Amino acid sequence: MRIVDIISKKVDKKELTEEEINFFINNYVNENIPDYQASALLMAIRLNGMNDLETTFLTKAMLNSGEIIDWSFLNKTIVDKHSTGGVGDKVSLALCPILAALDLTIAKMSGRGLAHTGGTLDKLESINGFKISLSDNEFKNIVKEHNIAIVSQNEKLDPADKKIYALRDVTGTVQSIPLIASSIMSKKLATGSNCILLDVKCGNGAFMKNIDEAKQLGKLMIAIGKKLNKQIAVEITNMEQPLGKAIGNKIEVLEAMDTLKGNGPKDFTEIIYSSGSTLLMLANKAGSEVEAKKMIDEVIKNGKAYKKFLEWIEAQHGDVNLLENKNWFNPKNKYEIKAKISGYLKIKSAIDFGIVAMKLGAGRAKKEDTIDYEAGIYLNKISNDYVNKGDTLFTLYSSKEIDKSLENEIMNVIDFNEKPYKIDLVFAKLS
Ligand code: URA
Repeated sequence: MRIVDIISKKVDKKELTEEEINFFINNYVNENIPDYQASALLMAIRLNGMNDLETTFLTKAMLNSGEIIDWSFLNKTIVDKHSTGGVGDKVSLALCPILAALDLTIAKMSGRGLAHTGGTLDKLESINGFKISLSDNEFKNIVKEHNIAIVSQNEKLDPADKKIYALRDVTGTVQSIPLIASSIMSKKLATGSNCILLDVKCGNGAFMKNIDEAKQLGKLMIAIGKKLNKQIAVEITNMEQPLGKAIGNKIEVLEAMDTLKGNGPKDFTEIIYSSGSTLLMLANKAGSEVEAKKMIDEVIKNGKAYKKFLEWIEAQHGDVNLLENKNWFNPKNKYEIKAKISGYLKIKSAIDFGIVAMKLGAGRAKKEDTIDYEAGIYLNKISNDYVNKGDTLFTLYSSKEIDKSLENEIMNVIDFNEKPYKIDLVFAKLS
């Protein structure tokens, strides 16, 4: 078998066999296939797609490229939640400790930022000392003791996703339903979770641009999960504009912390309650949405959720003293964008905010780029806020000098209306 023939077959829009898919994954992981050939195959898949059977084979090959964690010693349901990626999407940082405080067990593998979207791992690594790469034993012990751990893909767990994910990020091959489904599902299955919420972001800041694509991805992941006896729920949520007010790494960690103390932005808080209640019901911890939301409310108000967050960060070696210090987020440069007219603000694009955040240093344009954890954007005003001429709309942050032309990129994607407009945060729930 030769990789060049497999590439040509996909270029010719033909179906790949299980053997061919296994050959690609095994040899790419073992470094017998170079990045340029892997990129060519990924691009052919991105352009010509894969059917459900090929996607299931790809998921299985990726899953089997590493180990699968066995949690039977805990005798507990392992819960997981995963987002397809968006701008300002720090849901995992706030939701996972809430669920852990409610006695659900979270053992989660996350990814880094992809293209213009932020990644949970990058946000966690912005916390001084935080270790995302844990040995099997460390991972198991932390989950056993604290009910929560979030780790990276590594050489043992889903090494195929680790390599392919980084390559896709820089080769224009992120936006592909079979590649996203196999990447997410192989990670979820490798960590041995059996109760999974998939948050499929939908809109111009997401990889799924419309509801039909989002439903197609959601249904495909449910089908893969069900074949492997997992309980899966999908929520399709709005990514037409950034989620919450913070975009970046440290700045998003701080917003998640505020939300855990009950002081989060309204839209972000609503998503936390919606996703949290779906998972609490899926894991049979709550009988209804009303009951689930009450449970979430309680652990936020009595401080248990925030306490669990600090306990988790400390367990993964993060420096909580520094994190709670007012000077932890301390960017060298800032630039305020002011309103030139008055009216109700409408943010018309999430992706442009993601791209500006990336240009400020919050994301990677090339595989080897390093992230500036201080970089990002704070939305002093969000859609439907009434804004007076001269008000600060957004604040840009970076460790490097800020390119003033970024202001135009932002101004091109906002409007000032006479009236507020309707925004749905959750478009659909599938199971
Ligand atoms: N999240 C993932 O884990 N993988 C993708 O391909 C996209 C989003």
